[in-house]
Order: sequence, then C-alpha cells, then structure tokens
Amino acid sequence: MAKRSVWSDNRFWQRSAAWVTGFAAVLLIWLTFDTSAQISMGTDADLKNGVTKRVPGPTVINYKITYEMDTKRGHEIPVIGEKELFFGRDDYSEEEAGALLHLGKLGSQVKNCMDCHTLLGNGAYYAPDLTKAWLDPAWGPEGSLQAMTGKETKEEAMAEFLQHPSQYPTHERMMPNLGITAEEAKGLVSFLKHMSSIDTNGFPRNFGKIQGAVHGK
Ligand code: HEC
Repeated sequence: MAKRSVWSDNRFWQRSAAWVTGFAAVLLIWLTFDTSAQISMGTDADLKNGVTKRVPGPTVINYKITYEMDTKRGHEIPVIGEKELFFGRDDYSEEEAGALLHLGKLGSQVKNCMDCHTLLGNGAYYAPDLTKAWLDPAWGPEGSLQAMTGKETKEEAMAEFLQHPSQYPTHERMMPNLGITAEEAKGLVSFLKHMSSIDTNGFPRNFGKIQGAVHGK
C-alpha cells in the first residue's frame, strides 16, 4: 500500500477539528468564570480589609481615590487611599452608598450622558470621557473648577457644574442645562466617583479637554 502523507488524511483533520473545538470550548468556559470573578463588585468588608477589587463596592465613595502609575503594568491604576469626606460625610453605609450610585446610574440613563460623553468605553466623544472625570486634576485643589463654581470641595464643585453647566463655559463646547436637581447631582457625582475607582487597565489614558481650557467661544 502506498504511504499517504498525514496532510491528506481525513482522520487527521477530523481529530484536529475535534481537539481544537474542545480546547476552545474549555478556554471560553474558563474565561467566562474568570471574567465574572474579575468584574463582580467588591464589598464594604473588602475595602475595610484592603482587598483590591477591579470594581470596588459602593462605599468606595468614603475613600480618597488617586490615579497612580503602575510601572509593572505600564499604565495608571486607581488607588484607594485614606477615608475622605464626601458631601460632608465619610461613613456612608453600603445601603446608602448603593442608593446614591443607583440614583446616579438612573440619572445618567435618563439624561443620556452617553449622547455626548463616553462611560466605560460606551458613548460618544463630543464631550470629555467621563470614566475618570472624578480624577481630573481640574476638579482638585490645584484645578480651576472649584474656584470657578465658588465651591470648596471637588464633589460640591462637580454637583454645582452639573446643575448649571451652561453657566460655566470651560471650553469651546458647552454642556447644556439638563434640569438636574441637587439630589440627582449628588447621585451622579457618587456614580462618577465610583466609576473612577474601577480598574479599567489604564483606559482612557487622558482626562477631558476641560483641564487648562480657556473660556468658551
Ligand atoms: C448634549 C451633550 C451633553 C450631555 C447630554 C451631557 N454633557 Fe456633560 N459635557 C458636555 C460638554 C460639551 C462638556 C464640556 C463642557 C465644558 O468644558 O465647558 C461637558 C462636561 C462635563 C463634565 C466635566 C468634564 C470633566 O472632564 O470633568 C462632567 C463631569 C459632565 N459633563 C457630566 C455629565 C453628566 C453626568 C451627564 C449626564 C447626566 C452629561 N454630562 C450630559 C456635553 C454634554
């Protein structure tokens, strides 16, 4: 019998197909479980015990968040630090913080922030990416926005801006007034603060154009 090359052997290809399919199925199942574990929200206990989660629990709003370069990973990551006051308190319970985040999330959907902004990779780029807006130095003590809004904390400055954006033209495009109430603004700022604490593998790299921008035209 003539010797046949393995490449023209049907059984070889059938077996290969079965192995590749089997391997891919196992890999996908493993990745699914791995991803679910990575993106499941942490708890208040995690935060208290210093357990790092990609998506920290809602009570992360009780803590200071900074964006620091991780040389090993080659990009910035959110780092959760000491407790800090947020709208005058640093002791929001899991329920209270969860309720604020929920209000903010619903608010962001009702007012359709994604129509102009991007949140966690979804939305538009007409206006600055909001994923890390809370960490934008422009809102911090060195930035210009606290003075511009006449407020002394980051959260109050942001909440004020959200309620009256058209009063504060910071660059060539202006955010329209969306009729956001004080309570909704508080929820939205909590939502933005929590979102900024999510480890997004360094995405997005930069902050919005709002930093160092000049008065609107
Ligand atoms: C119609 C478009 C539009 C919608 C809808 C919109 N914004 Fe804006 N937003 C803008 C523009 C434009 C700017 C830049 C304004 C400026 O620099 O003066 C901005 C700026 C901001 C900033 C400051 C950006 C920064 O880098 O910190 C925040 C925070 C913000 N918007 C939050 C929101 C939230 C929250 C919503 C939804 C409730 C929302 N926006 C809906 C257009 C929009």
